[in-house]
This record gives sequence, C-alpha cells and structure tokens, in this order.
Amino acid sequence: MKFYTPDPNSDIRLMKAYKDEVANVYVARESLKFHCHPVEKYVDKWPTNPPSFRKSAAEYLTNVRRVEITLLGAISESLGLETDYIEKKLGGHYVSLNYYGACEESNLELTYGVRAHTDPTIITILLQEEVPGLQALSEGKWMDVNPIPDTVVVHVGDLLQAISNHRFKSLVHQAMVNCEKERMSIASYCYPSSDAMIGPPEKLIDSDHPAVYKDFTFEEFSEQMWKVIAFDDARLNSFKCSAA
Ligand SMILES: [Fe+2]
Repeated sequence: MKFYTPDPNSDIRLMKAYKDEVANVYVARESLKFHCHPVEKYVDKWPTNPPSFRKSAAEYLTNVRRVEITLLGAISESLGLETDYIEKKLGGHYVSLNYYGACEESNLELTYGVRAHTDPTIITILLQEEVPGLQALSEGKWMDVNPIPDTVVVHVGDLLQAISNHRFKSLVHQAMVNCEKERMSIASYCYPSSDAMIGPPEKLIDSDHPAVYKDFTFEEFSEQMWKVIAFDDARLNSFKCSAA
C-alpha cells in the first residue's frame, strides 16, 4: 500500500475500489496511476517489484508515445491541419494500470468496473487483455468493445472534441465486470501542456462550422474538470461559445 495517497496531484497513486453512496453502486476498479513522460523524469518513482516492471513499463510507454504522435499526425492531417498541429500542444502523459476483480454473482447488478464517462484527454490508448468488459455508447446503445489480440483501442477525449470544433466526438464508455474472471487493462492518457490553447483553429471555423468552443488553456480546463461530475462531455460546457 506504499503508493496509496488521497493527493490527486501525486506523481504516482494507488486507487482502491469504492462504494458510490449516492448512486448506491460499487465501483470495482483498482488502479495504479502514474506520470510517465518523459520516462527518465519519472521512472525512479515507479514500483521495483516485480524487478522487470520499470524496464517493461518504460519500453511500453515509450512505444505508446510514438503511436500517439503518429495517430495525432494523421488526425491533424485529416482535419486539414499541419501534421504536427496537435503534437505541438502535447505535454504530460499519465498511465493507469487497471485491475477488475471477478464479482460475486449476488452483487453483479450493482457493480461496475468504471461508470459511464468521457476522458478529459486528447486521446486515450487502451490495451485490454483477453477478458471483455469495455463498452462504448453508440447511438444511445451500449456496444461491447471486445479485445482483439495485439490491438489497442483509441478513445477520442474531450480535448480533441474541442480542438476539432466537434468533428471528432469524445467517446462515452464504461467498464463492466463479470463473475468468472478478473480483468486487466492499461489506459494511457495523452494530455496537452498546461498553457496549450485548446479552442478550434481558424481553419476549422466557417459559416457552416461556427466555433463551438472559445479558446481556453488546458490549465483552465483542469481547474474545471474535477468540479463537474457528468457521464458525458459536460466538462466542456463552460468553454462553449454563447451562440453554440
Ligand atoms: Fe475512460
């Protein structure tokens, strides 16, 4: 329990399952979250047990960063922007190693892995092992996103929705548990630097696509994001243009 801390700004943090007393549901995810970019800055704070952990995590997270930059380049180009338009905004990177224990059958109806939410990121790269559990909301219905070997899932986060002037929509998703098998996943959260401007660029604003969001910094968004409890992109509401 060395990494357990109530401080949300800690460089590394162990989080336990908890009961949501308001909704009367149990949220089963246990996770170890830590900063990981640049790797050299944070690696000394990571666990030393198992002994291979730091080396394996550093290798995986360095490769995730490469995938992220390639994807963001393709996304920028698809929006008609310079290839490095989004890359230039990048700052930190946070990872969450998630564990979902198998659930007692009598508790299944009241137990979630993680409740419905969007990610407050640009994108999130999720590696799932073979046990299903991820669901995404599509046209009002929950859809299973079952693991495919050697494949990652990429979530559009709230910040890409704002940068793209709503051409990309942030993904509402949740994680379910089951009674037979424990489940694990690794979520890599891609964030901008604190002073990066997040509003849509001029190129994405015209009479058919008026600006949905004002310019705002990631620092302003971060102050807001912990105050808004919602299952959807409501964290962005206070940054909307009044006409949107
Ligand atoms: Fe998420």
